[in-house]
Amino acid sequence: MSETETRAGTSAVTTEKASEDEKPLLRVEGLVKHFPIKKGLLQRQAGAVKAVDGIDFEVRRGETLGVVGESGCGKSTMGRLITRLLEPTGGRIEFDGTDITHLSTGGMRPLRRDVQMIFQDPYGSLNPRHTIGTIVSAPFRLQGVEPEGGVKKEVQRLLDLVGLSPEHYNRYPHEFSGGQRQRIGIARALALKPRMVVADEPVSALDVSIQAQVVNLMDDLQEELGLTYVIIAHDLSVVRHVSDRVAVMYLGKIVELADRDQLYTAPMHPYTKALMSAVPVPDPRRGAAKSERILLRGDVPSPISPPSGCRFHTRCWKATEICRTTEPPLLELRPGQSVACHHPENFEDQAPQDTVLLTAAKEAAELVSDEVLAESAETSAAVAAEVSKAEAAKETETTENTEDK
Ligand SMILES: Nc1ncnc2c1ncn2[C@@H]1O[C@H](COP(=O)(O)OP(=O)(O)O)[C@@H](O)[C@H]1O
Ligand code: SF4
Ligand SMILES: [Mg+2]
Repeated sequence: MSETETRAGTSAVTTEKASEDEKPLLRVEGLVKHFPIKKGLLQRQAGAVKAVDGIDFEVRRGETLGVVGESGCGKSTMGRLITRLLEPTGGRIEFDGTDITHLSTGGMRPLRRDVQMIFQDPYGSLNPRHTIGTIVSAPFRLQGVEPEGGVKKEVQRLLDLVGLSPEHYNRYPHEFSGGQRQRIGIARALALKPRMVVADEPVSALDVSIQAQVVNLMDDLQEELGLTYVIIAHDLSVVRHVSDRVAVMYLGKIVELADRDQLYTAPMHPYTKALMSAVPVPDPRRGAAKSERILLRGDVPSPISPPSGCRFHTRCWKATEICRTTEPPLLELRPGQSVACHHPENFEDQAPQDTVLLTAAKEAAELVSDEVLAESAETSAAVAAEVSKAEAAKETETTENTEDK
């Protein structure tokens, strides 16, 4: 749902209600998760994996926040922190105005209903010895909830809701394909009518054509059930089509957080730009970007001892001395677009006095030809085509084909 729709929707009700609705559903401040590394016989702490290292963001009611970044940057840890499957090392998490940072198991009970998680692996996350009925009804048993009309009837309704047959109730997970299993995972997540769903790479393990179907299902369910989503993905191809806003993570930090369209048309963080280059989206209007595709060299540094200053400075082609010494704060440089960078793209330089590139910067990235990336473009094109096909089908009777610009 766009912000304008939200505003229009709330204008009719009382101002008190309106201000209530404008408060974010989830607010995260300075969130930190360090996993201790223990060594030796005495198991002394020898260091820590700084998986999430001080992040701030909000999730607005009814929106989809996409979270992207390379493997190991802390996305899953972030997801498990905000659903409180993990205990934070520091910072604060507020859900619907309540501080849930260190809630006890008992205190978590109501939250367990409101916040649900969908996992990446539709094979590993379903117990192979349980029937679909047992799996999808587990949340009712755990919470001691008796749905109206009985558990079985409700589970069958949920199966129907996610596009499965109520007859699947007595079947086992191995009888289903990956896409169907993910639908089962979604049904289970929706059982207790959650308000927020955190989906950790929900389609990464699925075939491209199935990915689009599951993404579309999630999109439809959001509208139908008024859900708020946090969708985690390792690249921008999936979240592009479903997110209202996107947060880009690098080594435990959010480096850019922006409205989806702004992020895609004018990314400000060099890392965002590189991520976008790696997943070229065939769009004739973006043809001019061809020569600017950037491929990052080198591996992501270890989160045990992240680089000083800006953590991206060892791989950034724009890095100067200030990047090595001073951490850039995440600042809203343009309305709806926050970025943590001294020398942002598509915006005025934040440290214009610092002009000498670091030696590493000169070799940090390479420009690559389209052919090299053709294969990944194909994947992304397939997802885009499927999604737009479904969108077009939805809108056939309402819109004429308007060719913008
Ligand atoms: N339970 C854990 N114990 C120790 N290190 C962990 C644990 N979970 C994740 N990590 C480390 O934290 C970092 C971030 O991991 P993760 O959140 O899974 O990243 P992502 O989901 O972005 O791939 C990685 O270096 C990972 O190895
Ligand atoms: S220009 Fe500097 S601050 Fe910006 S991303 Fe590169 S290294 Fe970081
Ligand atoms: Mg992960």
